[in-house]
This record gives sequence, C-alpha cells and structure tokens, in this order.
Amino acid sequence: METSRRTKVKELLDSTAFGSTVIVKGWVRTFRNNQFIAINDGSTINNIQAVVDFENTDETLLKRITTGAAISVTGELIESLGKGQKVEIKVKSLEILGDSDPEKFPLQPKKHSLEFLREIAHLRFRTNTFNAVFKVRHALAFAIHQFFNERGFVYMHTPIITASDAEGAGEMFRVTTLDFDNPPRTEEGKVDYKQDFFGKSTNLTVSGQLEGELAAMAFGDIYTFGPTFRAENSNTTRHLAEFWMIEPEMAFYDLNDNMQLAEDLLKYVIKHAMSTCADEIEFLKNRLLEEEKQKPQDERSELDLVSKLNFCLENNFERLTYTEAIEILKNSTPNKKKKFKYLIESWGADLQSEHERFLVEKHFKKPVILTDYPKDIKAFYMRQNDDGKTVRAMDILFPGIGEIVGGSQREERLELLEKRMQEMHIPAEELYWYLDTRRFGSAPHAGFGLGFERLVLFVTGMTNIRDVIAFPRAPKTAEF
Ligand code: 4AD
Ligand code: MG
Repeated sequence: METSRRTKVKELLDSTAFGSTVIVKGWVRTFRNNQFIAINDGSTINNIQAVVDFENTDETLLKRITTGAAISVTGELIESLGKGQKVEIKVKSLEILGDSDPEKFPLQPKKHSLEFLREIAHLRFRTNTFNAVFKVRHALAFAIHQFFNERGFVYMHTPIITASDAEGAGEMFRVTTLDFDNPPRTEEGKVDYKQDFFGKSTNLTVSGQLEGELAAMAFGDIYTFGPTFRAENSNTTRHLAEFWMIEPEMAFYDLNDNMQLAEDLLKYVIKHAMSTCADEIEFLKNRLLEEEKQKPQDERSELDLVSKLNFCLENNFERLTYTEAIEILKNSTPNKKKKFKYLIESWGADLQSEHERFLVEKHFKKPVILTDYPKDIKAFYMRQNDDGKTVRAMDILFPGIGEIVGGSQREERLELLEKRMQEMHIPAEELYWYLDTRRFGSAPHAGFGLGFERLVLFVTGMTNIRDVIAFPRAPKTAEF
C-alpha cells in the first residue's frame, strides 16, 4: 500500500497488509479513554479504530480530537485484538484538519431522533443511518440507468421549465420574472404574461411524460430520470413538493408489456441494491427492528427488511382490475366495520392510501398492480377502453408505501384524444406539438412513472419520505 496517499476506510477494513504504513483521513465519531479514535470517512458505515499512544502525545493535540473533527492519521495497520474489528491503526502521527467544538457540534455519539436530524439535515449525512440511506439511494439510481442501458433505452433530459401541465391537475409552481408587487396588466386587468420572460405563463414540470412520448415516437424506447415538482398541499410521509421520477416510454407497448417492464425494473434495482449494499441494508434492517420495538405487537411488520425485499423479488405481482379491487374493498372487514376513513360505497371512488395498503398488506400480502381505472379519476392521455368508462391505466402498489408506480397505455387515436381533452378542459391548441405525434405516424405506446423516493423508502425501510432525499421540499419546508 502506498504511504503518500490516503486509503479509504472501506478498503482498510478488508485489508490484511499488516505492518504497512497507511494514511487515513476522516471525521472523528468517538474518542474513548484518551486512546481509541473511531474514524469514519464515509466510504462505509463502519469506522476504523486508530489507537493513540497518549503518553507520548501532546496534551493540547489530544484535546482537539473531538467528535466531528476532521483528522489525518498516519500509522501502522495492525491486526486488532479488540472485539468488533479485525484491523486497527497504531498512530504514528496525527494532524487535525478541522476542529469541531464539542460544546457546539449537534451530533453527539448517541442516538438522535429522525425528527431532530431532519432539522440538521446539513449534518445528518455524518450519521450511520443517513450514510446507509444515501448509499442505497445511489445504488438504486445507478441500477436504474444500468437496467435501461442494457435494454437499449435512450436517456432523455426533458425540460424542467414548461408551459404545459402534463397531468392536468393544476398543481404547479409558477416560474416568472415579473415584478410580483406590480405586474404588467392586460386591458382586462389580468397579469400580462406576454411580458414575462418566456412571453407566456410557465411553471416547473410535474412530469416529463409528454416530451417523453415525443421521443418514444422516434427512438422507440426512452426514459427520463429527473426532478419533478408538485404544489400539492400534502403534508404526508409519502409526498414531496420536489421529487425525482423515472419515466420510461415505449413505442409498440401495450399495457401488459408496460406492467412487465415495471415489474422487471423494480426487481432488478432492488436486487442490485441488495447485492451492492448488503452492509447498509443489514444496518437498516436492525435499525427498523429497534424502531419497531416501540410499537405495539400488532403494528409491527411481519417481515424484517431483508425478508420483505426478498419476498418482493420472489413473488409475481398480483394483477387485477380496479373493478375487482372495489369488490374486495366493499366486502372487506374494515369497510363493513367502518374502520376506513373513506368508506368504499360505489364504483368510481378514488382509492386512498388506506385502501391501497389494505389490498397489499392485508388481502394479497404482496405487491399489487391495479388496472383499468375509471376514466374520471385519471389523466386525459390514457387509452380509453371500449366500455366507455375505464382507461388502460395501471398503478403498482407496494407494502408500506401504497402507490409506487403510475402509468398507462396512451391514447394514440387522435379523435378520441381530442374529444377527451375537450371534456377535461385541456387546451388542445397549446398542446399542438403533443397532438402532432397522433397526426404523423401515431402508434400504440405506453409508459409509467416510478417515484424514486418512494422506491428508496421501500428499500431502506425508512418511514418518512423526507429522510430519503437530502434536502426535502414540502409545504413550509425549504431549508438548506
Ligand atoms: O401517478 P403520477 O402522478 O404519474 C405521472 O406523473 C405520469 N406522468 C407518469 C407516467 O405515466 N409517465 O406519478 C408517478 C409516481 C407515483 O406513482 C409516485 O410514486 C410518485 O410518482 N409521486 C410522488 N412521489 C413523491 N411525492 C409526490 N408528491 C409524488 N407524486 C407522485
Ligand atoms: Mg398516480
């Protein structure tokens, strides 16, 4: 091993090059008995122990080895006699790179609540939990690109600023450079967006799907993976105002092909995370077990995190129609005993997360794909079924999460699409470019959106979506 360069802790912990001189740089997690420094450099959740010969070390230097301080240690790699580690470093020289005042540093070597850590999100990466969560997040992002790349999909970057509402739900953040206190007005007294930066009213994208469809009509198979923004005032553990979405779009796919691709993608990326982040997931499994000890027995998960992930890999997702699901829900015990907050009384009801979770966690006990929803609760672009009531939609529901994927086969027939847009008051003139795909070489196609943070939530076993994105954006929350 070279001695002029630092070696990462992850590599050292697996090393057997005993007797060699190594350099470690990292942050002090703990310093015990004026002797044992636990150093973490982020390369692994595990620390390496460095042992200081305190009798021959300057007292003022020892005082500066505090939790949070950045240090550089040069020493001999030796086999450890202590419990819990195979190797340690016998310190030859030690340098403080950056002090950390122990009176002021908020992360103490003890357990902190996730709520507290959310308030210091700029420092929480330095905890084991967040080290593990963000390693898993990285692995999942990498696996997503690998999955699509192996299958010949083209990665498209769709615009962040757009003039259209892809979902037609009106939950958009406006983008403007107009003077908010004194905007230019039209003769009718409305804000004159013609004078705005883009010469029209614009917003942050809620989805890259519409642009994705344009590309799919040329490349065949494409996907997007980027940030999306929703101004929905949902203060829940599963909603963010800024989240990342993966949106594949495939020409010549029908709904079955679409569902199969989504199931294959989810299994592939979960498997990849389990094999590349085994330590992290093991840590998160134990964290969850600890956390669940606080809960009453009947609220605890039946399966631990690793078993839950394996279970998801080993089973086919249950596929059924919305209509079949409504029948199950109508006759379910919580519906009959009025335990649901929103009772299912008739066909057409929108499913709430309590219903989704009942189907997945109690009824089928595995991931579920619901198809053919009523057209009135779905977006304008979904392909209409012959029954005149339903559309070729599919939602994938996951245990503990509810909806993780939403997608559909698209309406490729110009006339039917135009009619539906009119019924739903979607401005066709502004979307002329979208309709052009149906005018010139229209073809059956399908796609879906996978909420990236919901996926990370599932694989890490975390319970609040704000703990799987670095700096969460949510109502009244935009710190850092
Ligand atoms: O179901 P949604 O709204 O579908 C679309 O946006 C389609 N354009 C996708 C497509 O067909 N290309 O959103 C897709 C997924 C949801 O299933 C959910 O996982 C996630 O995005 N999602 C959110 N995640 C976090 N916070 C929010 N506010 C979310 N809204 C949707
Ligand atoms: Mg949806």
